[in-house]
Amino acid sequence: MTTAFDAYDLAGTKLGNRIVMAPMTRSRAQEPERIPTALTAEYYAQRASAGLIITEGTQPSAVGQGYPNTPGLHSAEQVQAWRAVTDAVHAEGGVIFAQLMHTGRIGHPALLPDGLVPVGPSAVRAEGRVFTHEGMLEFVTPRELTEADILRTIQDFADAARNAIAAGFDGVEVHGANGYLLHQFLAVNANRRSDRWGGSVENRIRLTVEVARAVASAVGSHRTGVRLSPGGRFNDVTDDADLAGTYVPLVTALAGLDLGYLHLVEKADRELTTRLRTAWPNTFLLNPGTGSDVPTGANGLDLVRDGTADLVSYGALFLANPDLPARLAAGEPLNQPDRATFYGGDARGYTDYPALG
Ligand SMILES: Cc1cc2nc3c(=O)[nH]c(=O)nc-3n(C[C@H](O)[C@H](O)[C@H](O)COP(=O)(O)O)c2cc1C
Repeated sequence: MTTAFDAYDLAGTKLGNRIVMAPMTRSRAQEPERIPTALTAEYYAQRASAGLIITEGTQPSAVGQGYPNTPGLHSAEQVQAWRAVTDAVHAEGGVIFAQLMHTGRIGHPALLPDGLVPVGPSAVRAEGRVFTHEGMLEFVTPRELTEADILRTIQDFADAARNAIAAGFDGVEVHGANGYLLHQFLAVNANRRSDRWGGSVENRIRLTVEVARAVASAVGSHRTGVRLSPGGRFNDVTDDADLAGTYVPLVTALAGLDLGYLHLVEKADRELTTRLRTAWPNTFLLNPGTGSDVPTGANGLDLVRDGTADLVSYGALFLANPDLPARLAAGEPLNQPDRATFYGGDARGYTDYPALG
């Protein structure tokens, strides 16, 4: 019987098990360079027993940043700093992909260098506020991307993916979930365009598909994953009420690119998950829906055993348990995540969660 503790061949990359560390923003990058630090290398190296680590959301361009102290992959300095992280993880036998996250309209001019302002599919402001160095501030109305800007953005993702490989990453994950730029193009409330990037399903899925295509051709399809969250409302996005009507065509188009994996954040029901999996021929990575604020627990392992997914990802519990696979295998108690230290700060709540023994 297959278990989550069995090794896995991810399109040629060997994973020691099927338990994945989900991408998590930690807002501890050094500014103004937006580079990971020695502490970041230690944090990820501590978690190298994951079958696969997916990093925190990392901006592919300066304007793609939506939170304080998030790292980028668009400068030579950033590539060099990430190299120390990937070396540390590889020295511990781990595998690590970089998550490329462009936050689009989520963000604030106060977070951006050089007078940049957040951009989006349309000049439609998201409801809500964002944490900045000046405290909580209302989201702003984004600048609507022109056709030329969109083509530039696709190129930025491809360039950042090349940078990721130059920095020693084993691959990249394109963030198409959680209400950020690519999800904003999918969403009917954020995308009011009437050109080839908006309106019909075919048009709204185009940016995600074109970014995935550009990234795959830059670094290889086997080293490219895509994350989606159908039905997720985070960051004030509203998907089409007919979720399958948007996401089956999207997943089918992505399937044509022969990508390494699809990472599904399960916000809708298991029926949609199963439908999307059926449309997806390659590795299927699931971050199971567990209800609000309940982290994925030991029962996530059942999803691999019963074939619902090939790989399962853990967020909050991986943050709090550097040796999560060993603890799950032994049925040992788990450290509980401390929300107060999720974002920003120092080693506390970052590298000081104890391992067993
Ligand atoms: C502190 C924190 C930061 C997160 N940052 C990201 C991120 O940068 N990119 C992303 O795709 N998801 C992000 N997420 C969502 C997680 O990847 C995951 O989908 C979510 O926590 C649910 O999984 P869990 O129940 O195992 O925690 C974050 C979650 C947490 C707790």
